[in-house]
Amino acid sequence: MSLTKVSRTLTEIKPSLIRRFLDVARRRPGTIDLTIGDPSHKTPSHVIEAYVRALREGKVKYSTSRGIYELREAIADKYRREYGLDYSPDEVVVTVGASEAIFSTIRALIDPGDEVLIPDPGFVQYEPAVRICHGKPIHHPLLEEKDYLPDVEAMKELISKRTRVIVMNTPCNPTGSVFTRDILKAIIDLAEDHDLIVVSDEVYEKFTYDGVTHECIATYSPERVIVINSFSKTYSMTGLRVGYLLGPRELVEHIFLIHFYNVTQTSTPAQYAALAALRGPHDFLKEAVELYDRNRKAILRALDRLRIPYVRPKGAYYVFPRIDMFGMSSMEFAKWLVEHAGVAVVPGVAFGDKGKAHVRISFSQRTDLVEEAAERLIKALEGFSKNR
Ligand SMILES: Cc1ncc(COP(=O)(O)O)c(C=O)c1O
Repeated sequence: MSLTKVSRTLTEIKPSLIRRFLDVARRRPGTIDLTIGDPSHKTPSHVIEAYVRALREGKVKYSTSRGIYELREAIADKYRREYGLDYSPDEVVVTVGASEAIFSTIRALIDPGDEVLIPDPGFVQYEPAVRICHGKPIHHPLLEEKDYLPDVEAMKELISKRTRVIVMNTPCNPTGSVFTRDILKAIIDLAEDHDLIVVSDEVYEKFTYDGVTHECIATYSPERVIVINSFSKTYSMTGLRVGYLLGPRELVEHIFLIHFYNVTQTSTPAQYAALAALRGPHDFLKEAVELYDRNRKAILRALDRLRIPYVRPKGAYYVFPRIDMFGMSSMEFAKWLVEHAGVAVVPGVAFGDKGKAHVRISFSQRTDLVEEAAERLIKALEGFSKNR
């Protein structure tokens, strides 16, 4: 058998440009990395302690595949307390990060050739996940002139007999937009009219600014929504790989099958860390949001000074400025920035065609680095036309 004989599906899938730019940044010493969405606030000490305690207590064997009961109970309690939603622990599956939850959910909901509406620009996993599951990704644009909120009327035009799922993400990576209540209700109306399931990725729920708060779309129609969330960002524990999904029992049972046959479970000690995370205290969170807000302002000040247009991010920790004024593609611009400013960002095209004239700047790094990067951007780009 030829070693090059791989599934044809894979020939359409390329490695993430984010990782590629991260590698570029790491190869050039002194580059400030504003590519990746890893949080920089300190992982709460009670989370670390619970992880170590779980190891010491020998909690290193298989757990229940859908996640330890206390953790699923704590997740259900969180949704009751914060959003007034009434999930039972059996309607929760603890996953290997939100990434696995997204993948397992899409795999469970579609058959080959089914269509899935995904945002463009959107998080880099959605399109490959749909393709790997033999589905057809249909891009629904998040337009800059609409503050990167979905145009639900326009989404309607993209629905066909094969459409099964709408994937949405708020607060949004890469744009920082936070969907309004009206948008959420309109998405639910659309899903009801066409009998679709909404998969809502809410991993940045706790990071919002300017007095905006996140709303969970499931509050408008829990029976139509799979909510996806994670401990990665909120608790700064991206490497422990704990996420989860919640939804109506019948759907969750099917998603669970994919989860079970693919990964069996997520790490047992990491689940104990996640349980401690949810039990709190949560006082670290206010400081974390203040940190990202400070970083956001430092980057926005630099963009203002350079007269680079952007939509003010209200959530997550990204801004998605338009850079076509520099006469380069997003790829060329990102490379130019590494070389001339020592700052790595992600070319917007990594997030879909609608990102071609943009770059994504992550402001999740330590404040001193973000401030230094803002200075470097000003220095390199103020002199841009002179030095080219
Ligand atoms: C929108 C979005 N969803 C999901 C994820 C994946 O999160 P996790 O670490 O829980 O797999 C990320 C990570 O960057 C993200 O930005």
